[in-house]
Amino acid sequence: MASPLTRSTLRALARHSTRVSSALKQTQNASYSALARAVANKSAQRPIAKGTRGVKTLDFAGTKEVVYERSDWPLAKLQDYFKNDVLALIGYGSQGHGQGLNARDNGLNVIVGVRKDGESWRQALEDGWVPGETLFPIEEAINKGTIIMNLLSDAAQSATWPTIAPLITKGKTLYFSHGFSVVYKEDTKVIPPSDVDVILVAPKGSGRTVRTLFKEGRGINSSVAVFQDVTGKAKERAIAIGVAIGSGYMYDTTFEKEVYSDLYGERGVLMGAIQGLFLAQYQVLRKNGHTPSEAFNETVEEATQSLYPLIGQYGMDYMYNACSTTARRGALDWAPIFEKANVPIFEQLYESVKNGTETRKSLEFNGRSTYRQDLAKELAEIDSQEIWRAGKVVRSLRPDYKPE
Ligand SMILES: NC(=O)c1ccc[n+]([C@@H]2O[C@H](COP(=O)([O-])OP(=O)(O)OC[C@H]3O[C@@H](n4cnc5c(N)ncnc54)[C@H](OP(=O)(O)O)[C@@H]3O)[C@@H](O)[C@H]2O)c1
Repeated sequence: MASPLTRSTLRALARHSTRVSSALKQTQNASYSALARAVANKSAQRPIAKGTRGVKTLDFAGTKEVVYERSDWPLAKLQDYFKNDVLALIGYGSQGHGQGLNARDNGLNVIVGVRKDGESWRQALEDGWVPGETLFPIEEAINKGTIIMNLLSDAAQSATWPTIAPLITKGKTLYFSHGFSVVYKEDTKVIPPSDVDVILVAPKGSGRTVRTLFKEGRGINSSVAVFQDVTGKAKERAIAIGVAIGSGYMYDTTFEKEVYSDLYGERGVLMGAIQGLFLAQYQVLRKNGHTPSEAFNETVEEATQSLYPLIGQYGMDYMYNACSTTARRGALDWAPIFEKANVPIFEQLYESVKNGTETRKSLEFNGRSTYRQDLAKELAEIDSQEIWRAGKVVRSLRPDYKPE
């Protein structure tokens, strides 16, 4: 839940920024978002920003890639670019919340379209969207919007497409944050009309992070892609929307590459693989007589609290250097064994993503009317596993512990 300060400040800023004068626009050029101004000094001191500002092509370990950055889109330019547009956000889950509030705080004309009186409607009301002004049922919002930002769940994008498709008329832009619906069209049946631009901005993080980073005056990394360019301006529009919703840096991709890498990554090291590895390591420790606390500390706590943050900050070699010589030697010897054992599984996973198996499973599960309850049941099973029950006790002993 946003703090009272945040919510009231955001509303005031949103109202203020929609009436922005040209003089104010000039001031805003210097510091990006109205909210970001509060922390501009702090973020300006970050060395990473100094070194990379203005650079368009970066060398990523020998491969040159174009990176688009927010600094090319001062707020006044952004507001001018979208002055005749209505951004209609369809869906108000994690991404709808983050992207919508950021675009609103950037002074753009944003409306939300969700099922009347559903959970998202309630959430949108709480965030200050006003029924009949900025909050509408889905079809009404699409009719009013010029840029239709489809942020329904991926399963819902497919289920609602027959109703939505006829409303996406010539001149509108169709926007997604995932390549899912369009790439797996055989399964989703989402085939965009041929006379509209179809673009994608996929933030590399949850919608909550999209919002938090924006409020801190930073920006999330996002991928941008164009599926269909009718106007010749689709790429430019995608980048501008990326900035509007809170991206700091944007990387080129295609709808296909975005969805393949995303589905693969989350099933792999980001979520599925790491859960499987944690559990496997814990089980063997327990079978060999280690206590739950010892098994948890050696598997999860040290990883998440000590070692993984070092990898995140400075890289894998840095983490190795921070560890004992004994740890280093053993880890260096075992890393290739794990790699070899896991490559076939990752190959199998990539194929399962590419041939649509993962998509079909996801559509089937998330399309059920009971999907929320079914998911809750599976998550409750994880929560009741010994490893995570032990984890609760270990976490409660942290100096900065806050009860859930
Ligand atoms: N979450 C992430 O980390 C993330 C990151 C990058 C990209 N994305 C992409 O962003 C898009 C949105 O994802 P999300 O996580 O923000 O949302 P989500 O939680 O997957 O979807 C929530 C929205 O879908 C609506 N919805 C569900 N079933 C519906 C139906 N049958 N009819 C109408 N509305 C329905 C919900 O409305 P009700 O409340 O009324 O049910 C809610 O507004 C997806 O394409 C996703 O892949 C997500």
